[in-house]
Amino acid sequence: MSHLKNDLFLRALLRESTPHTPVWLMRQAGRYLPEYCQTRKRAGSFLALCKNPAFACEVTLQPLTRFGFDAAIIFSDILTVPDAMGLGLYFSEGEGPKFERPLTREWEIRKLAVPDPNVELRYVVDAVAEVRRALDGRVPLIGFSGSPWTLACYMIEGGSSANYHTVKTLAYARPDLMHHILDVTARTVTAYLNAQIEAGAQAVMVFDSWGGALSEAAYREFSLAYLRRIAAGLIREREERRVPSIVFTKGGGLWLEAIAASGFDAVGLDWTMDIGRARALVGERVALQGNLDPAVLLAPPEIIATEARRVLDAFGPHPGHVFNLGHGISQHTPPENVEALVETVHNHRPQEQ
Ligand code: CP3
Repeated sequence: MSHLKNDLFLRALLRESTPHTPVWLMRQAGRYLPEYCQTRKRAGSFLALCKNPAFACEVTLQPLTRFGFDAAIIFSDILTVPDAMGLGLYFSEGEGPKFERPLTREWEIRKLAVPDPNVELRYVVDAVAEVRRALDGRVPLIGFSGSPWTLACYMIEGGSSANYHTVKTLAYARPDLMHHILDVTARTVTAYLNAQIEAGAQAVMVFDSWGGALSEAAYREFSLAYLRRIAAGLIREREERRVPSIVFTKGGGLWLEAIAASGFDAVGLDWTMDIGRARALVGERVALQGNLDPAVLLAPPEIIATEARRVLDAFGPHPGHVFNLGHGISQHTPPENVEALVETVHNHRPQEQ
């Protein structure tokens, strides 16, 4: 096993103390970086970029070369999972992700099966192994997946949705079918995350981006229940180290205590809740990851420094904080603003409020 030169991210996730707060950003490899746009052009498309391990490795490393992030996240997309389940993912310019064969009829739902991640998602597993080699212990590598509920939103809606009416109608009218989809997807996600861990991912994160669209009762039934199953099925230790897990429900602030009890080591927070209040609610049970509003990165560097210190001080001088945004970075972010953010996080010592 290669020795980690910087393991602050893994230590913070396990609520061990660190000399400064580690930082990485959701979607840190993306269109705000000109070098990403260049590689994407060479690859031909976003999906071609995801499906070629050499290109995926190249763009995974780009933000690390530019900024001093404390973690790498494998370059891929959550929608590779439904693609591997046979739905046919494609991206149409300006419209976001789409599926050729969304789940619309009962027989299509009934024949849904768990794919073998080492076959149907081989390109991701290979990219994880390649990035691990290329990182050479610089920082830990994060593997990820979408949550069953969030993946089901895309699988049933057939793409992005404004109000989730189709998927919610299925959940309310045919809970039996909805639970079948979520059950198959949860088993797929567990196998997929474990395949990434076996290939070298040193932490894993589950993106429940649309959990916050549900009522509390529906969230518990259709999202949280499956997140718990995933947490319970994850490989916990590899290469003689704990493999920490993170769950991120966007819009989940009101259900924080239930989420913190779901079996993950850390909880991602969107920007709506004060992270100090979140820590007061769950601080002894899980680490917290977040939670700067991504829009702050569109403001001048002095404002970014002030707002970043506000988040760090709200959490306070305690172990268990991984600095991040409350959601993915905007494609309109000037790269030099990210530099200002990383510098502030690495140099500020959180103050007790
Ligand atoms: O964080 C990282 O750097 C890793 C890469 C990553 C991507 N997508 C790359 C990507 C991760 C972790 C994701 C997760 C993802 N994908 C989520 C969950 C997180 C979230 O944002 O809530 C969701 C919901 C998706 C689905 C998805 N993929 C959408 C809706 C879109 C289109 C929106 C857009 O920004 O255009 C994508 C495409 C996508 N995934 C891009 C990137 C860099 C942009 C593609 C491009 O280059 O044109």
